[in-house]
Amino acid sequence: MSDLPVLAIDQGTSGTKAVVAAPGGEILALAEEPVRPSYLPGGRVEQDPAELLASVLTAGRRAVEAAGRPVGAVSLANQGETVLAWDPATGRPLSTALVWQDRRAEDVCAALAGHADRVAALTGLVLDPYFSAPKMAWLRREVTAEGVVTTSDAWLVHRLTGEFVTDAATASRSLLLDVDAVEWSPELLGLFGLSGERMPRIAACDEIVGTTRAFGGEIPVGGLIVDQQAALLAEGCLLPGEAKCTYGTGAFLLANTGDRAVRPASGLTSSVAWRARGATAYCVDGQVYTAASAVRWLGELGLLGGAGDLDAAAAVGSEGTLFVPALAGLAAPWWRPDAAAAFLGMTLSTRPGHLVRAVVEGVAAQVAELARVVAGDLGGPLSRLRADGGLTRSAALMQAQADLLQIPVDVYPSPHATALGAAATARLALDPTLGLADAVPAWAPSKTYEPRWPADRAGEFLARWRAGVEAAIGTAR
Ligand code: G3P
Repeated sequence: MSDLPVLAIDQGTSGTKAVVAAPGGEILALAEEPVRPSYLPGGRVEQDPAELLASVLTAGRRAVEAAGRPVGAVSLANQGETVLAWDPATGRPLSTALVWQDRRAEDVCAALAGHADRVAALTGLVLDPYFSAPKMAWLRREVTAEGVVTTSDAWLVHRLTGEFVTDAATASRSLLLDVDAVEWSPELLGLFGLSGERMPRIAACDEIVGTTRAFGGEIPVGGLIVDQQAALLAEGCLLPGEAKCTYGTGAFLLANTGDRAVRPASGLTSSVAWRARGATAYCVDGQVYTAASAVRWLGELGLLGGAGDLDAAAAVGSEGTLFVPALAGLAAPWWRPDAAAAFLGMTLSTRPGHLVRAVVEGVAAQVAELARVVAGDLGGPLSRLRADGGLTRSAALMQAQADLLQIPVDVYPSPHATALGAAATARLALDPTLGLADAVPAWAPSKTYEPRWPADRAGEFLARWRAGVEAAIGTAR
């Protein structure tokens, strides 16, 4: 077994985090670089590929330098459904990166609506511009016929190693993967008008895919995985029914479903959790597209100083104000990319603090709604929820979550769950003798939030909030 630390890079929507982690999971060094998506009219959200790459290189180099020790491997967790066109001969980007929150490919999905059931049967996903293929098709139609169109990980890994590869978990977010066979589907490629495309090889998440000299010396690159699944792994959700929610740019609830890709009856989606040790594990997932995004937006409107002020501002309560966090449309189980956010129940006495509190409760309510529908797919309700991500620092949010879910919420003790999941896949890639559970360090919650609301209060709140969602959908763009 290698006793070298690994460099795990979490390339996320709002920043890149690089962690040098010891074999036991201890963080030896950390570096972060912000990335700034552009929020454009028409629900467009873009990133500059050069900024993404620079953030990976800078954060990675700074972390390795700070650790002051050689690393045995580099792994990458990625945003999942962010896509760009690029030239495989030179590595040069041919488009901006269209971020997973971008809604511009709505019309691609609308044109394929008649195939929605077939798409869901093959992929476990829903026809929505959130996923990769509609945005890839849009790039082909509107921007360029040159080069390749892929998710951002394939481009970054190519820039690091020269290889043309993605991983099974990321591929399962594309709407192009036969999720049972874990292979690109010619039928789906045809449906999206992508038949002639050169597609990256699909690697397992515990594979070494190449080497890089980008971080000093020649270092193996492996342990590729999509970010939400990396957090699921770090939080030890290895058994069917174990679930986590990551409160980042968006909030993402994932529950392990074992070796079977269930076809959710409820409007959730089903993906590869990881492919490792010759086996594929699956998960169901539900999404709140704007969580920290909604908090940042409150700041931009001048209603909140910053995320650090959330709890102080929200302490006043909501005074009956409700918020539907559909600032980038609504995902599972509604799937309304055209829906817009809404505040409801305001009066002349409504103050900024009430709106802040309503946003906190709105995010928690949407996660609670996802947990309710997940229960149908798992055959029983969740008994606990593991939670990670920057917004877990908000006691108001975590308490609201426990109150609305009516189950305990265990907060992961590190703000770096995704990077630590990628460190686990790097260790699996480095050491073939290691089992999945051995690669995931044990952890105890930094804090557990127990429900304080009685069940009937939670039920009444959620019924009102669901009515608010219907109102927001009713006024969709
Ligand atoms: O599906 C998108 C999601 O995985 C992005 O995560 O951490 O970049 O907000 P994050």
